[in-house]
Amino acid sequence: MINLTINGKSVQAPDGSTIMEAADYNNILIPSLCYLKGSHTIGSCRICVVEVEGARTLQASCITPATEGMVVKTNTDKVRKARKVLYELMLSDHNQDCLSCSRNQSCELQELGKLLGVDESRFEGAKNPSVPDVSVSITRDMSKCILCRRCVTVCNEIQGANILNPQNRGFSTVIGSSMDLPISDVNCAFCGQCTVVCPVGALTETSSTDKVWAALNDPAKRTVVQVAPAIRVAIGEEFGFAPGSRVTGKLAAALRDLGFDDVFDTNWAADLTIIEEGTEFLGRVKAVLTGGESVLPIITSCSPGWIKFIEHSFPEQLKHLSTCKSPHTMMGAVVKSFYAEKIGVEPQDMFVVSVMPCTAKKFEIEREEMVNNGVQNVDAVITTRELAEMIKTAGIDFVNLPDSDFDKPLGLSTGAADIFGVTGGVMEAALRTVYELVTGRELPFEKLHVTPIVGLEGIKEATIKIENTLPEYSFLEGVEVNVAVTNGLKNARVLMQQVAEGKSPYHFIEVMGCPGGCITGGGQPRSSDPDVRQKRMKGLYDEDESKVLRKSHENPSIISFYKEYLGEPNGHKSHELLHTHYTKRGIYNEFGGPIPVKKPEKPVHEPSKTTVSPMAVQLSKRDIAGANAQQEVYGAQNMALESENARLKDELEDMQKTVETLKRVVAEYSKKQ
Ligand code: SF4
Ligand code: SF4
Ligand code: SF4
Ligand code: FES
Repeated sequence: MINLTINGKSVQAPDGSTIMEAADYNNILIPSLCYLKGSHTIGSCRICVVEVEGARTLQASCITPATEGMVVKTNTDKVRKARKVLYELMLSDHNQDCLSCSRNQSCELQELGKLLGVDESRFEGAKNPSVPDVSVSITRDMSKCILCRRCVTVCNEIQGANILNPQNRGFSTVIGSSMDLPISDVNCAFCGQCTVVCPVGALTETSSTDKVWAALNDPAKRTVVQVAPAIRVAIGEEFGFAPGSRVTGKLAAALRDLGFDDVFDTNWAADLTIIEEGTEFLGRVKAVLTGGESVLPIITSCSPGWIKFIEHSFPEQLKHLSTCKSPHTMMGAVVKSFYAEKIGVEPQDMFVVSVMPCTAKKFEIEREEMVNNGVQNVDAVITTRELAEMIKTAGIDFVNLPDSDFDKPLGLSTGAADIFGVTGGVMEAALRTVYELVTGRELPFEKLHVTPIVGLEGIKEATIKIENTLPEYSFLEGVEVNVAVTNGLKNARVLMQQVAEGKSPYHFIEVMGCPGGCITGGGQPRSSDPDVRQKRMKGLYDEDESKVLRKSHENPSIISFYKEYLGEPNGHKSHELLHTHYTKRGIYNEFGGPIPVKKPEKPVHEPSKTTVSPMAVQLSKRDIAGANAQQEVYGAQNMALESENARLKDELEDMQKTVETLKRVVAEYSKKQ
């Protein structure tokens, strides 16, 4: 531990703490904006400045190490004034259309204003003129960007997608994709992880709520809603419940109160997926082991961010993907065929809404493959955050809603389906069914949990030895089935590199595009709880264990669906409705896969004619109100310049690394020649 003094009090803090961490350890709050515990610590906003005895200038506490004997003041006049001026400068360039902004009331910039006691800027000037870039999944509105660079960190260092980076240099810096191309024109996976960390309304999911309200108000439409597994342990947070609280019954009740005619559960289709995917896996293994032609490893296909990533980055490996559609698109296809026939409604008169933890699902439903008989499987995807907004708008008292059930027949599911929402869950659900099918015995793990693949690590693996098989599966006798589970695109890339080189030791791989799986998907509630992933994961495993039926093949509704409608797993009808194919895209969509584009649902602000970066605007203020503010502004400008210098230094280092890499590549290439 180190000893230091904060605000006149002698305190201790763990070795290696920054000043901000030391203060936090002693329950002293230092306001911050760009800082993101554990992942983003580059000190770009300077809001967290403090006075340090002996230091010439104010120090950014989130990046300055706390040292033995240090004397720190976090709340002096000088510190408060500096923070206020920095904040006002930020605000002066900000497109403050708070009333129509999707982040209104959940905006960290607004919150900070309240904390600092500032509600308007004394400084006037030109606003950032960027025109919003609207894709089917993600909307970028750089007129609201405060250049904190959290999105850059999450996209590059956590997802390894390398889409968002500072474009231009110095005062012209904006955050965007390569050559500032629209996000639809590059290899963005639409995972939405950047929308979770953006503190303001600069990066958000593209809203679909107007479309859903319109359908709910259209008496000619039969409105059907379904909810993904991960929603039930997360949406409660939007209404004050602790992270991981299971609010399944309230969720079903709220959807009914919103006016949906049928309230179904995507879990039902998750059970269906296990039957289809498990059968496909066994078919491929049998072919390979008995001298036939097939492709292993088979890789799961239920995460659309992952699918888009592999289509762009590993277009030659698409044959490894399971041909199963994702559970919610399977559900859409079943609703508009089997269920439509059952209730005597034309498929085109139905409007299917999926409530998903994922922004990439908005893209997925627009794919031309997700259509049967000329009708789109799913009509709209809304995220957990969008559903919470709709429940609030409708004035529904979510907290006090009595529990309700999902509707039959597409609302009944097993525990295996619940764990689809967490990394490792799809694989465990598949193994519960496949092992029992092949051996006639239950999977030999305590409480059915395949312990080596439970948890939030980036890459996990397990080996299951198959012994004493039933006669029809004798080809598997003594086989050690190797499985791997990964989450987050950066980790997926590691496993895919092995696959591409023909060195993958696995038979079956589960990939989820978001770190942790759907529990922390790009459309889930934003949380400041560092343990949010563990808590939501526990919620899903608890939900699974609370069920009487915990294996997909035991779901009576699925069993009768095969008897009544599909016939057999992987049969002709299944292939027509529940299976799909994939599209080679390449990094800049050079292989020509169509990318749906989207017009904004809501009007966006009119851009002005000139292009001025936020930093340039901050630094070129001429009409400063009042001579007294001048000194403060100079101080703040110095800090802004310091932060800009730090940023340029980072960029320079990045560029130097790139040049080194390029030199190495050229040298190796020349050697080969
Ligand atoms: S991002 Fe800007 S416009 Fe949106 S709520 Fe926050 S302060 Fe208001
Ligand atoms: S959606 Fe995902 S891949 Fe696309 S920019 Fe955001 S973090 Fe990067
Ligand atoms: S887009 Fe959002 S997260 Fe990215 S730099 Fe701007 S404000 Fe920060
Ligand atoms: S919070 Fe420390 S520099 Fe932004």
